[in-house]
Amino acid sequence: MDMYAVFGNPISHSLSPHIHLQFAEQCGQNLHYRAILAPLDGFAESLADFFAQGGKGCNITVPFKQDAYRLCDELTERARRAAAVNTLIRKPDGKRLGDNTDGAGLLRDLTQNLALPLKGRRILLLGAGGAARGVLEPLLGENPGELVIANRSLDKARNLLDEFATLGPLRVCGFADLSREQPFELIINATSASLAGELPPLPDGLLQDQGACYDMLYSKTPTLFQQWAGIQGALVNADGLGMLVEQAAEAFFLWRGIRPDSRAVLKELRGR
Ligand code: ATR
Repeated sequence: MDMYAVFGNPISHSLSPHIHLQFAEQCGQNLHYRAILAPLDGFAESLADFFAQGGKGCNITVPFKQDAYRLCDELTERARRAAAVNTLIRKPDGKRLGDNTDGAGLLRDLTQNLALPLKGRRILLLGAGGAARGVLEPLLGENPGELVIANRSLDKARNLLDEFATLGPLRVCGFADLSREQPFELIINATSASLAGELPPLPDGLLQDQGACYDMLYSKTPTLFQQWAGIQGALVNADGLGMLVEQAAEAFFLWRGIRPDSRAVLKELRGR
């Protein structure tokens, strides 16, 4: 049976095995998918073992996406831009091809599942770490009116500006500057602040009336950012579960050549 896996640390909470097995069942694909806890200092060895055992492909999650990027023989253009790999494909010649489906997953969730067109919109992206980098190119590809990156350390945001400014109307600022900004139509949280029970300092009035908020993280209860978005009156107030399912659907398509019904799986997960 074809073997797939997701690598991370921690990994026991991962929904990826459930999502991919649902996809496989939907599409009549006979495959095995499991979660692998790689040691923090032993990811390369775990990955090599998996492929030596005949693994066909895998997903990579926190904290190994940048390591995976360095361990591929070939990279897709979007993985190179993201400088991170979340999907690996073993090619027929045995080479490891690294891709990144996170940005495509976010776009699909925003534009299809949530019906939020991005063209011409003013978008604020909070954070300038790996998660933000991975979605910059796809977001700019939708021709927003303007994309502003706000980050705690301005240097990191400036580095992204240097790298991505040619792709669209990009600007950066610190959180302290946000009170001088016009309201945004969409605010996306790509910081990891919620994981530490924190929220970036966001001024009131940052979100336009009827605006939308999107937290790339998800949890069983609303994240701190979602709680803030609720207080600001966001019309759409989403967590990253849709992005998770959609990036998985894109990976499944790369491996199996069939596009699963991601919405059905998202609905099932939301109903749990
Ligand atoms: P990830 O891969 O999840 O993006 P990362 O590369 O470590 O992880 O980046 C984390 C992001 O969350 C960064 O933008 C970080 O801001 P700094 O670049 O200033 O470190 C941001 N972040 C983390 N905790 C935060 C907090 N409490 N308030 C604001 N931003 C925070």
